[in-house]
Amino acid sequence: MTDPLQTDPAGQALVAPPGDDPPGDLTYFAFAESKELEPARTSAPSGFSTMPEVLAGRYCIERLLGAGGMGAVYRARDLLAEQYGDPDPYVALKVLNEDFAESPDASAVLYSEFCITRYLRHDNVLRVHGFHVDTSCERAFITMELMRGLTLDKLLCERPLGLPWKELQDIVLPLLDALAYAHACGVVHGDMKPSNVMLSEKGVRLFDFGLGRAEEGVLAGLPHLSRERFNAWTPGYAAPELLEHRQLSACADIYAVACVIYELASGKHPFRHLPSTQARDQHLGSALKPPCHLPRHGWPALRTALAFDAGARAITAGQMRDAFIAPSSWPWRRKIRPSR
Ligand SMILES: Nc1ncnc2c1ncn2[C@@H]1O[C@H](COP(=O)(O)OP(=O)(O)OP(=O)(O)O)[C@@H](O)[C@H]1O
Ligand SMILES: [Mg+2]
Repeated sequence: MTDPLQTDPAGQALVAPPGDDPPGDLTYFAFAESKELEPARTSAPSGFSTMPEVLAGRYCIERLLGAGGMGAVYRARDLLAEQYGDPDPYVALKVLNEDFAESPDASAVLYSEFCITRYLRHDNVLRVHGFHVDTSCERAFITMELMRGLTLDKLLCERPLGLPWKELQDIVLPLLDALAYAHACGVVHGDMKPSNVMLSEKGVRLFDFGLGRAEEGVLAGLPHLSRERFNAWTPGYAAPELLEHRQLSACADIYAVACVIYELASGKHPFRHLPSTQARDQHLGSALKPPCHLPRHGWPALRTALAFDAGARAITAGQMRDAFIAPSSWPWRRKIRPSR
C-alpha cells in the first residue's frame, strides 16, 4: 500500500514517489482493487474528501491541476503504461465533485462530455483517452491527454495588456479553427471562456465540453441532458439568449469566443465581465472600441460576433478566422450595426 497523499506548500495533493521495492507482479498491481488503498487525506478541494489515491487500480493521483464548478482535474500516473515502459505515463483525470456526483444523471453528464470530446478529432481539441468507473469509491472519471501549459485566463494574468497580433494570431486562428470544426461536426461547446482553452506545449487546445451539446442526429443515443439546472453558464461569456433560457446554439459560442479574442487583444473584457444581458441593457455595445492589438481589417468581424442579438451575430467561426487572415474579407463591414 502506498503512502497517503501529502500536501505541497500550495496546498495541492502530492503523492510520495514510488517506494524502492515495487510489487514484483506489476500487472497484478496495475489491476489491483483500489479498495485496498487508503482514501486520500484531505488537500483535495472541498467535495473530494473521499478520493482514493489510486483510481480503478491503475491511475495514481499525483496532484490537483484545477477545480471548476462541477469537478476537479488531477494529474495522474497510469501505472499500467508505466509498467510497460511508456516514456510518458502521465494523464489528466477528471472527476465530478461529491455534491454533483450525487445527482442521478451525474455520470451520464460526464460520459456525455467524454463522448462529445472523443467525437472531435482535431489538433486543437483536447484528446480524451477513456471513461472509467472506480467501483470502490463509486466515482466515474475521464482520463485524457495531460496538457502542459497555461490556460488563457492565466496567460491574461501574465500579459494584462493583451498580446500583439503577431503572437495572438497563433492562438486565435487555431482556436477559431477548432470551433469551426466542432460546429461543422454538429457540436456546440457551450462554455467557451479563457479557462477552457489551454496554450499547451503542443499548441492550442480547446477543452471542457461539459456543457457541450450535439445537434439532433449527431451522436444519436446520447441523452440530451438539461444543463440549465446546474446554472453553470459563466455570465461574462454567456450570450444573452443563454441567460434568457433559450436553446444553446453555435451562435452562443461565437459571442463567447469573440469576448475571449477581444480580451486577449486588449487585456480587457469588452463589457467589463458583466453578464451580457446587463451589458446589453446598459447599451455598452454602442461604445465599444476596437481592441488595440487587433488588425483593423479584423474589427468588423469581431464587432459582428459581439452582437447581443443572436440574429445580428451573423458570422461563423470559419468566417471570423478568414476575416482575421485576409484584409480582403470585407463583407462584414456592411453587416456592422451597433449592438442592441
Ligand atoms: N487535460 C488537462 N491537462 C491539464 N490541465 C487540465 C486538463 N483539463 C483541465 N485542466 C485544468 O483544470 C481546470 C478545470 O478543468 P475543467 O474546465 O475541465 O473543469 P470544470 O469543472 O468543467 O471547470 P468549469 O466548470 O469551471 O469550467 C482547467 O481550467 C485547467 O486548468
Ligand atoms: Mg472549465
